[in-house]
Amino acid sequence: MKITVVGAGAVGATTADNIARKELCEELVLLDIKEGLAEGKTTDMMQTAQLLGFDTKVVGSTNDYAKTKGSDVVVITSGLPRKPGMTREELIGTNANIVRGVTQNILQHSPDAIIVVVSNPMDTMTYLTMTTSGLPQNKVIGMGGILDSSRFKYYLSQALGCSPSDLNATVIGGHGDTTMIPLIRYATWNSVPVTEYLSEEQQKKIVADTMVGGATLTKLIGTSAWYAPGAASAALVESIVRDEKRLFPCCVALNGEYGQKDICLGVPVVIGKGGWEKVVDYKLNEEEQGLFNKSADAVRNMNDVLKT
Ligand code: NAI
Repeated sequence: MKITVVGAGAVGATTADNIARKELCEELVLLDIKEGLAEGKTTDMMQTAQLLGFDTKVVGSTNDYAKTKGSDVVVITSGLPRKPGMTREELIGTNANIVRGVTQNILQHSPDAIIVVVSNPMDTMTYLTMTTSGLPQNKVIGMGGILDSSRFKYYLSQALGCSPSDLNATVIGGHGDTTMIPLIRYATWNSVPVTEYLSEEQQKKIVADTMVGGATLTKLIGTSAWYAPGAASAALVESIVRDEKRLFPCCVALNGEYGQKDICLGVPVVIGKGGWEKVVDYKLNEEEQGLFNKSADAVRNMNDVLKT
């Protein structure tokens, strides 16, 4: 098994670190356009191998795609992150060019790879990759909902005073401050709906905090977060390479599911060795479906920017 992570910045390096520690592959390539960055970070990582006890060989590369040859999974994190006050959508112009170029280079050397898209605006970057790569739809997966769901569980756990591990909660829709949909009606604490423990006011606050969870961190840190994005990306890769069939909310091509088509948007999917293997229908109520349709409209408008 060989995995490549493109972009050795905060999110890419953290993703690579998690993949190495979990020993998800024999060889991991971290690639960046910036001279020396990937080589430096991978050497640093390799110097933790005996301390942490992992055997994955981690290799760095400055834009030499030949080193990525034969990758089974490729994670794209290259591109600008947002600064405080920015939306993810403002990154579209620069990041579309970067993601398009990276995808072409990757496919020259790994035509059968499964591609995980992390760069923002993620829903549009996933759609771009899906429509330009020529890959089967199931091999293109956007990572956003796993992270947003993890933030949702964090805020729920704070309000309930419980462990996030005992919670089941999902965020679907777009990966944007106004497009994501934390499904509080479906959230459970060890099988009991959390709505039984939380007032309506608490529920509204948790949903609102989740939606701006990334922006809150960007304001505090000065740039976007990386620990949870890296862990979430690695969890997705793990379900692919170990064929775990985990049910994760991911951004995938919709062909009529949830009433949408010609779009990539976050829905619950089974993730295994084939990529995303099936969409699971959560049977949204009218209000949730309305929010999903609004989210799709916003993402579709963003996708249209690619055509101009
Ligand atoms: P960063 O600035 O730390 O790293 C980005 C890296 O990409 C830099 O090292 C840069 O040199 C590299 N890069 C730029 N153009 C490249 C090219 N053509 N080829 C190879 N490498 C190239 O940014 P960070 O924080 O790692 O974020 C990366 C992306 O991930 C951003 O677009 C950010 O908005 C997004 N993100 C997405 C999340 C999600 O849930 N989908 C969560 C967090 C961040």
